[in-house]
Amino acid sequence: MKRVIIIGATSGIGRALATLYVAEGWAAGITGRRKVLLDELSEQLGGNVLARVMDVADTTGARRLFDELVASMGGVDLVIISAGTGYLDPFIPWETEMETVQTNVTGFASIAHAAFEMFRRQGYGHLAGISSIAAVRGGPAPAYNASKAFVSRYLEGLRCVASSRNLPIYVTDILPGFVDTAMAKGEGLFWIASPERAARDIFNAIGKKKRRVWITGRWRFVALLLQFMPERLYTVLVCGKKKNTRQD
Ligand SMILES: NC(=O)c1ccc[n+]([C@@H]2O[C@H](COP(=O)([O-])OP(=O)(O)OC[C@H]3O[C@@H](n4cnc5c(N)ncnc54)[C@H](OP(=O)(O)O)[C@@H]3O)[C@@H](O)[C@H]2O)c1
Repeated sequence: MKRVIIIGATSGIGRALATLYVAEGWAAGITGRRKVLLDELSEQLGGNVLARVMDVADTTGARRLFDELVASMGGVDLVIISAGTGYLDPFIPWETEMETVQTNVTGFASIAHAAFEMFRRQGYGHLAGISSIAAVRGGPAPAYNASKAFVSRYLEGLRCVASSRNLPIYVTDILPGFVDTAMAKGEGLFWIASPERAARDIFNAIGKKKRRVWITGRWRFVALLLQFMPERLYTVLVCGKKKNTRQD
């Protein structure tokens, strides 16, 4: 039986992924901070599930818990890091900016690194991380967009290391547009996928060992558009340019 660990499985995309992988016959290790939701999901999914309360922002504790979970499962084929946070507040309080960095940057890297090292020792494995369309440019949630750029570049870097050292480790960068979860904030949301649809697309992409996948596929074109959009136009369309704030 194949084994997957999903970091951040208490809600949204992570929860839908846990549900799908177990339905597909995988054993699952699931984590998150909200114990009540973890217990509820474990009960719903039944037998082949191990749950651990884990805060990725506590990097030392999270890496220890991760290694313990892997040992309890007798090894793991796939690790998916879905845990993430983000805030849309024009006043960008430092507290939420810091929480975003601690979760999406140091928290993400601590588990991605632990998983990569575990796969290297084990001799095989597949790591997938959830980035975002926000990785493409800076935006109105500065720490969030920057943190997702970090996620994508870190995964690309791990793929580079796996290749240069000829390690049989696959790495997949998952870039959702909008998915209907607590995380999807703000106005003007469009092309919103359900968490179940997102999970199915992610499952298929990982099965094909893809390096990168847009959720859903058409967001790839939005990313291209954003990437090459001149900054003045981007400022007006995405940031919402106000009078007297022009910066050349
Ligand atoms: N929804 C979208 O439109 C969208 C778009 C692009 C990218 N994404 C990305 O998709 C991923 C999943 O988000 P979602 O949309 O499914 O939102 P969600 O329902 O809010 O799920 C976030 C998950 O991350 C976990 N998490 C947050 N902080 C954590 C921490 N410090 N330690 C451990 N786990 C933590 C949460 O669990 P606990 O609270 O129980 O810890 C929860 O399981 C995120 O990385 C997000 O940035 C989402």
